[in-house]
Amino acid sequence: MSQVDNFGDEGKGKIVAYLALNDKPKIVARAGVGPNAGHTVHFRGKKFGLRQVPCGFVYEGARMLIGSGVLVNPEVLLKEVAETGVGERLGVDMRCAIIEPGHIEQDRTSAHLKEKIGTTGTGCGPANVARVSRMARLAEEVQDLRQFITDVPREVDDALRRGEKVILEGSQGFGLSLFHGTYPYVTSKDTSASAIASDVGVGPTKIDDVMLVLKAYVSRVGAGPFATEIPQEKAEEFGIVEFGTVTGRRRRIGTFDFELAKRAAMINGATQITITCLDRLFKECVGAKKFEELSAEAKDFIAKVESELGVPVTIVSVGQGVDDVIDMRSEKL
Ligand code: IMP
Ligand code: MG
Repeated sequence: MSQVDNFGDEGKGKIVAYLALNDKPKIVARAGVGPNAGHTVHFRGKKFGLRQVPCGFVYEGARMLIGSGVLVNPEVLLKEVAETGVGERLGVDMRCAIIEPGHIEQDRTSAHLKEKIGTTGTGCGPANVARVSRMARLAEEVQDLRQFITDVPREVDDALRRGEKVILEGSQGFGLSLFHGTYPYVTSKDTSASAIASDVGVGPTKIDDVMLVLKAYVSRVGAGPFATEIPQEKAEEFGIVEFGTVTGRRRRIGTFDFELAKRAAMINGATQITITCLDRLFKECVGAKKFEELSAEAKDFIAKVESELGVPVTIVSVGQGVDDVIDMRSEKL
């Protein structure tokens, strides 16, 4: 199981947390670029904005792994270890590349990266440059990470061989993919489901399901093309005002982009779709517990997504909390 989306911020974190609590996997492994992503989970009255630790930490029976493709900023990681209390449940692949203070400095002072591209300033781009140049330091060389170092592909393969469940937590939207997104307004790596599998070290034939997480509308932080963007005042009329988890920048808002979603479903090989923030677009859906309780407009929207993308919508999210979801997997699959 693996999951991805559009320009980020669809609520991947919350969905991974829900799936972890509900499906009880043995492992939740984080993939994606690195601490440029902020995954939000509201759990037991607390809000977590996680940039390194997988959001599946809320399910205490699972091991939390970070795949070798993911960049690690030891300071950010250790802070989250303290916040979440994951302790010994955390494993960091020995081959994760490290973000150094100099990478952050470069990301924040380069006119190209900072002003033109509008990066998150977390050093990810420059750290990936160092990695490709074969100059990066790896996690196994960092004293402070020693207790967490592991062989992630081995752990995941052992779990799969025992028939246990594994969830791969992707990060960054599909539109931010270095290969398939709106270049040059993209992140520093591919973000598709294939990359997610590769980040963790799982072969493509081992993936059973790809959950595409789409928000009922689109948002984007940073520069770049945005086909369905609407003016901020219009978004405010709908009551939609959002800020980035990592940078605090105001997100640009647009209507649902069927063309982008179709392409995301195609390139990611989506087998299921989750639609998040349905309650923000269709206010009558707040607090709905069953599909039947959704408004006619919301049901029509879901039906249109299914027919246009040719993939079943199996989960919808109607609120912030981990349990504010309608899970239709048992009826639809
Ligand atoms: P970078 O990944 O920090 O180099 O930033 C490149 C672009 O990707 C910028 O537009 C960022 O705002 C965007 N970006 C990177 N990660 C995320 C994310 O997790 N959510 C939303 N936007 C992101
Ligand atoms: Mg985010």
